[in-house]
Amino acid sequence: MKNPLIDILEILLTAEVYNRHEELDVNDLPKPIRKRFWKKEYKSVPKPISVSVDDIKFLLGIENVVKEVKSLPFIEVDKAGFRLKITSLELASSWFNKHDESKEKIETNPSLAFYYEQLKEDGVDYISAKEKVKPKEVDREWVDSLISEIEEEEGGKDMLKLVRIIAPEDIMQPLSDLILTKNQEEKIEKIVRAIKHREYLRQIGLYDIGKLLMVGPPGTGKTSVARALSERLDIPFVEVRLSMITDQYLGETAKNIDRVFELVKKLAPCILFIDEFDFIAKTRVSDEHAALKRAVNTLLKAIDEISLTRDGVLLIAATNHPRMLDSAAWRRFDEIMNFPQPDASMRRLILDIVTRDIEGEFDTAEISNVTEGYTGSDLRMVIREAVLSSLVDNRKYLTQDDLVEAVDNFNERALIKSSDNSF
Ligand SMILES: Nc1ncnc2c1ncn2[C@@H]1O[C@H](COP(=O)(O)OP(=O)(O)O)[C@@H](O)[C@H]1O
Ligand SMILES: [Mg+2]
Repeated sequence: MKNPLIDILEILLTAEVYNRHEELDVNDLPKPIRKRFWKKEYKSVPKPISVSVDDIKFLLGIENVVKEVKSLPFIEVDKAGFRLKITSLELASSWFNKHDESKEKIETNPSLAFYYEQLKEDGVDYISAKEKVKPKEVDREWVDSLISEIEEEEGGKDMLKLVRIIAPEDIMQPLSDLILTKNQEEKIEKIVRAIKHREYLRQIGLYDIGKLLMVGPPGTGKTSVARALSERLDIPFVEVRLSMITDQYLGETAKNIDRVFELVKKLAPCILFIDEFDFIAKTRVSDEHAALKRAVNTLLKAIDEISLTRDGVLLIAATNHPRMLDSAAWRRFDEIMNFPQPDASMRRLILDIVTRDIEGEFDTAEISNVTEGYTGSDLRMVIREAVLSSLVDNRKYLTQDDLVEAVDNFNERALIKSSDNSF
């Protein structure tokens, strides 16, 4: 039987230790505790944390908190405010430490590891506990705090309209759900290392780093990989569409670009994702107004000036039309990540991963052989169609026929689409 008292005591002990020690900060709290006691205005969890009966209910789903803790003499319940307090840290911590389950908790709770390490407890290591906890930057609460701070500033609201910000914890597809080419994997590893060793790069004066251009046809995973990187790196994702910036605020375009770059510096560390990057090429060749040309120059200049090493912003741009970009644009990127149409073996792996949780009897290898030219996004669509027709058939069981039929339908659709273009 799981002992709820241990869970309750973990929270109370964590609060007590966190409150007592100056040197502990918000990243020393386990994620659920950090999120629960987060204060937007402080962009942090201010001290002291005061734990209420409701907090325990929220965090652990325990109803009779007061009754539960009655047996513990070192916990006091303040009846008026329904706050819980440890009256003797020494008694509480030694009671906690006596239970086997607490060992696991201490290993993943930096505040507790800090405390027990000081007591010279065997096998307790603050640094390794800390490595197991994701930093505050992954939390929705962190992103919301940044946003409301920027909203308060003059022109802040206008800035925020230009972008979409996602917290790492809200990113649905991690890298492990995406099938990458060898080359993509290598580039990603380089980026991960660069972020991790940012301080070192600064020391040795390497600033031309952290600008990545993703190139490939629609549906090959550019947006998905960019987002997944934010999840991998534990930093927020800031997305901007160049067409949006210009369509909505024509004339203000150059100013908007400056605003976006100013904004991401405030949100740093973060990823700035510029989708539809080829848009800048369009403005160069056409003789649109001077305002747009100015905007393009502003953009290139802003890209030059931003640095991962200095500003903590990883810049990722994506394009479906690499040939439209001139050398002035290419030159700005230190890494190019190619997104080819997946070959048969990649298609099979994509099919396998998408059907991972689907019951049935089917052969993804066979399907991968009849889907030449399909992108990852096309394959997803095929599976979705196949699942829907199985449901229409009152089945939650996928068959090879479902898949083959979905491929046929997809091909038909593609045919209609291309014939339409010829008119
Ligand atoms: N290599 C891949 N592995 C797994 N899923 C993929 C892959 N490529 C594309 N997809 C899926 O296809 C959909 C569209 O991909 P997306 O990232 O929007 O492509 P792009 O930005 O290149 O147009 C997403 O749901 C994505 O997960
Ligand atoms: Mg995309």
